[in-house]
Amino acid sequence: MQNLRYVGKNLFLERVSIQNFLKKNKTPFYIYSENQIVSNYLNFVKTFKKTNPLICFAAKSNSNTNILRILGKLGAGADVVSGGELLKALKAGIKPKKIVFSGVGKSEDELKIAINKKILLINCESESEAKLVNKLAKNLRKKISIGFRLNPNVDAKTHKNISTGKADNKFGLSIKNFKSFLREINKFKNIKLEALSVHIGSQILNDGPFKKTLNVMNKLIKELKLNLKYVDLGGGFGINYSDNEKPINLNNYSKLVNNFATKLNCKIIFEPGRSIIGNTGLLISKVQFIKKGDNKNFIILDAGMNDFMRPALYDAFHKIIPITKNSSKMKSAIEFVGPICESTCKFGVYRKYQKLIENDFVAITNVGAYGSSLSSNYNTRPLIAEILINKNKFKYIRKKQNLQKLINS
Ligand SMILES: Cc1ncc(COP(=O)(O)O)c(C=O)c1O
Repeated sequence: MQNLRYVGKNLFLERVSIQNFLKKNKTPFYIYSENQIVSNYLNFVKTFKKTNPLICFAAKSNSNTNILRILGKLGAGADVVSGGELLKALKAGIKPKKIVFSGVGKSEDELKIAINKKILLINCESESEAKLVNKLAKNLRKKISIGFRLNPNVDAKTHKNISTGKADNKFGLSIKNFKSFLREINKFKNIKLEALSVHIGSQILNDGPFKKTLNVMNKLIKELKLNLKYVDLGGGFGINYSDNEKPINLNNYSKLVNNFATKLNCKIIFEPGRSIIGNTGLLISKVQFIKKGDNKNFIILDAGMNDFMRPALYDAFHKIIPITKNSSKMKSAIEFVGPICESTCKFGVYRKYQKLIENDFVAITNVGAYGSSLSSNYNTRPLIAEILINKNKFKYIRKKQNLQKLINS
């Protein structure tokens, strides 16, 4: 995260000292660097410059309307997985013709929104869904462009809970079933197949699985002599959460993608989420209490797993750093935990850590993707604030949810 650094002992995001910021702003909250969002997006554009794809930001990774608006202004479209995300993307000013809709269980109501708003593609994930789209389009006297999301049966070699491209996973249509549906597709007069899509998983750090998927798609499209307007290659590009990980290098893959698009004469769509927004955000939290344990001390934070689920859900590692550095050391190992009544409400064990006392502050790093978007009201806790930093300025892009309203709802 290039926009995060210590100046002396104090942590700065862009030009804002977090310590100073905390004098007037209550924890826990998410805080993002606008500069980092913009540079991640422009880097992605640069990597695939030759191909000039449509980049549909995966709104599930962070669906804050202000963030969608920043990306929309840079030219991004949106990949949405619910009617709610679709309406948020539109509210953020993203044009319907830059929106693709994925998801295995889209409801009738959601599909009607997509049809009425005339989005670019509904990426169907089953024969039943395609038939339902056809029926709804017929009732509305429309002909709808669809894509089919395929399950290429490729192992993304990532955490099992974020692997989506194996035959065992619920996502997409198997190639066999796609071929058999294709034989009867002409019966369905209100849909038109314009695209194929794939998304094999998330946090993929090696380009091997992407190359394999590209081969599967290439072979299939040639074998079936499909004339497609779009091929949607999904997202999934990994970032480095720890110092010994490297983010994926896409240079080689981008050449293959360019060849593929040129030969098939189709427009490429990507759906990146994490690689655009993951390293842009911090979760700032206060040390509420410190409790002695037998083998380690518990640093009890005011942020909980309802605010940030990734460690509980995926055993994910997110480095925790102090807001103000010092040179003293904790005497024993520590575990950062949150207040939620679940043993999985914990954020990491450190054998050695600088001295922390109650009321100190820490930052959980790289939480921009699947952080706030996965948060919940579990334990009847209000959703926390989200703040956007731009150089030395800040703005609240989501206020903390009002507790009384939450209780009354
Ligand atoms: C269909 C689809 N597209 C794109 C993404 C974004 O993936 P990532 O954030 O890993 O780029 C996801 C997330 O898993 C997804 O399910």
